[in-house]
Amino acid sequence: MAKDKTIFTCNECGASSPRWLGKCPGCGAWNSLIESVAEAAPAAGKNRLGGAFSALAPGTGVLPLAEIEAVDVARWPTGQPELDRVLGGGMVAGGVALIGGDPGIGKSTLLLQALDTLQRSGVTAPDEARQRGGTLYVTGEESGAQVALRARRLGLAGSRVAVLAEIQLEKILATLAQRQPAVAVIDSIQTIYSDQLTSAPGSVAQVRECAAHLTRWAKASGCAVVLVGHVTKDGQLAGPRVLEHMVDTVLYFEGETHSSFRLIRAIKNRFGAVNEIGVFAMTERGLKGVSNPSAIFLSQHAQPVPGSCVLVTLEGTRPMLVEVQALVDGGGPSPRRLSVGLERDRLAMLLAVLHRHAGVACGDQDVFVNAVGGVRISEPAADLAVMLAIASSLRGKPLPKGFIAFGEVGLAGEVRPAPRGQERLREAAKLGFSMAVMPKANAPKKEARELEGLTIHAVERIDEALEIVRQMA
Ligand code: TYD
Ligand code: MG
Repeated sequence: MAKDKTIFTCNECGASSPRWLGKCPGCGAWNSLIESVAEAAPAAGKNRLGGAFSALAPGTGVLPLAEIEAVDVARWPTGQPELDRVLGGGMVAGGVALIGGDPGIGKSTLLLQALDTLQRSGVTAPDEARQRGGTLYVTGEESGAQVALRARRLGLAGSRVAVLAEIQLEKILATLAQRQPAVAVIDSIQTIYSDQLTSAPGSVAQVRECAAHLTRWAKASGCAVVLVGHVTKDGQLAGPRVLEHMVDTVLYFEGETHSSFRLIRAIKNRFGAVNEIGVFAMTERGLKGVSNPSAIFLSQHAQPVPGSCVLVTLEGTRPMLVEVQALVDGGGPSPRRLSVGLERDRLAMLLAVLHRHAGVACGDQDVFVNAVGGVRISEPAADLAVMLAIASSLRGKPLPKGFIAFGEVGLAGEVRPAPRGQERLREAAKLGFSMAVMPKANAPKKEARELEGLTIHAVERIDEALEIVRQMA
């Protein structure tokens, strides 16, 4: 294929240059020029975005919103209820999903399992006239033989999933056009390159260009496309942030590779709720959904130990119990604050509140906080449990047996309500917990301070919570 002309465009100001420059001639920003394909002059009758997008919205012009028909999107369940949950009910025709996660966490495994189920269910696109159907798995990281080996381990030896080992975008697009699959997986977007660009596969320019082409294909053909993305060391999806804007759904795989549990979290979803999570366990035969995950993030101590506190967190629509552990230990002149699974800035803030409003000082000590099982907690309702765990570690006294806590703590030391407090309480009661410290604003009405064996202590301030615990232990 003849090479189109490439230009270099500044990410900051949009100025362009025919060759790469370290400094943008327009705005003076450093290292902001990205290679892209020069756009040909738009052909008559086509909009600037090219024919693909015009197929989506055939020149209807401006209409009042009420006159536009709201068409329900077609969805194909993947046969993995936990994956369907984060997708909002299944793969969406014409939708593009991006799945990110650490290497070896199970992205390829899960997608191969999902494709096999879709293939077996005889997935076809709703547009029957064009005879589309089936699945296509494009592998850029492994050979066909390696994929076959994995399929055999997964017990999918007779699988009819079509596999293409290819990394050149133009060839992939040609295969898509020829086979017209209903669902296609690109594993991974960082290995694909377009020969229109000179930059290396995985570079910002390549990732952006390839993702744009594949997205356009999805929208034009009604094919559901899943892009697998690598993450960088600090957990961000590699490549430009713009990738997340381009696609309809962004999913992240979480978990530690040495623990068998994996979480998939929806960060963005144009077709469903965000912050919904799916829970899986990695077995020797692939990933299995965990339909009732509420107790998997508890470590099993026979007796309570200092520095450990269980909290009820609400992930999407499901309450889950997670154990937070804290270790406060003699530091030095510059004590360390380290957290795994919780925000570090928030930890620093909570330590300051503990000092100022509850008289618990760890100023000269190292403080380590960890959420058990590799789960990541982002909601502030974890505050109270984190602070109680820290105080418990500092004093060397365990919290009472069967104890849970939740609630956000503000800078003034006040304990603020957490969303859906009653649901959290019910989950804890169901799992046999016997004592809860929680925000007053969440507490059950009247004197009903006990729920199926769970004694409830409602507090308004952090020092109250600490006082209750002190009296119990
Ligand atoms: P993989 O899907 O290759 O990860 P990714 O595509 O995200 O890089 O995950 C492979 C890991 O999962 C690997 O460490 C082996 C393990 N695994 C199992 O434990 N059981 C299985 O059935 C399979 C296929 C893999
Ligand atoms: Mg892989």
